[in-house]
Amino acid sequence: MLTALQYRILRRIAPAGASRMTGAAYASASKLQILLGADLLERVRGKDVLDFGCGYGVEAVEMARVARSVFGLDILPKSLERARELAQKEGVANRCTFGTVPPVDRVDTIISLDSFEHFGRPDDILRTMHELLRPGGQVIASFGPTWYHPLGGHLFSVFPWAHLVFSERALVRWRSDIRADGATRFSEVEGGLNQMTIGRFERLVAASPLRLVHLEAVPIRKFRPIANRLTREFTTSIVRCVLERPARDDVKEGSR
Ligand SMILES: C[S@@+](CC[C@H](N)C(=O)[O-])C[C@H]1O[C@@H](n2cnc3c(N)ncnc32)[C@H](O)[C@@H]1O
Repeated sequence: MLTALQYRILRRIAPAGASRMTGAAYASASKLQILLGADLLERVRGKDVLDFGCGYGVEAVEMARVARSVFGLDILPKSLERARELAQKEGVANRCTFGTVPPVDRVDTIISLDSFEHFGRPDDILRTMHELLRPGGQVIASFGPTWYHPLGGHLFSVFPWAHLVFSERALVRWRSDIRADGATRFSEVEGGLNQMTIGRFERLVAASPLRLVHLEAVPIRKFRPIANRLTREFTTSIVRCVLERPARDDVKEGSR
């Protein structure tokens, strides 16, 4: 009854399911450099790199211009098809490859953009990243919006914090009118949505074999004056972090 009412309200508010997150901010700029820093390409120059959750491969191809090799990993084969075409078109297909299964050889650096809030089992992903890295290698990641951000529900945030106001059942039912992937929960939508918070991410890293080198909760510009440790779940735009596989796995401080 309540679900049906909420569903009707959602249909009224957002009949076509227009997303507020268009990616337009990166239309004419390097998403890699905006999110991970202008020196990112220098940091991967000459290295073996893996892009975890590479999507259409735009960043993998960009890195392949300077890296020794790049492997783009994703669970969606149709995204990887597009990624391979792009690598071919840009002339880097010899050192930029893609797949749904991690490569056998370890890498120096793992990049992950806008993916930690999508991974179905982020704890497993952290362990996999550890296994994929050479000792001393780093994960350089940026992700968000996290769950309590006004648009943390991604497609479900039909207005700010709508994903916290409406029930999961009503939102998923509304979404099924525009996306036919059969999802019955947030976690089942194509590409995944794991309701990641900053605190949960910190706890997952602490319990993982990786060492946290750096974590920055970047505030939403308008919320800067009130952004602090207490408000950060609601006021953070994106999370940037660097994680490291210790040179010796038995020396991670304060873990396990
Ligand atoms: C929002 S997209 C980001 C794509 C790209 N990194 C970018 O910034 O444009 C998140 C990606 O993570 C991928 N993904 C989700 N779970 C994954 C997993 N377990 N392993 C690898 N990729 C995964 C999704 O398929 C999707 O392509």
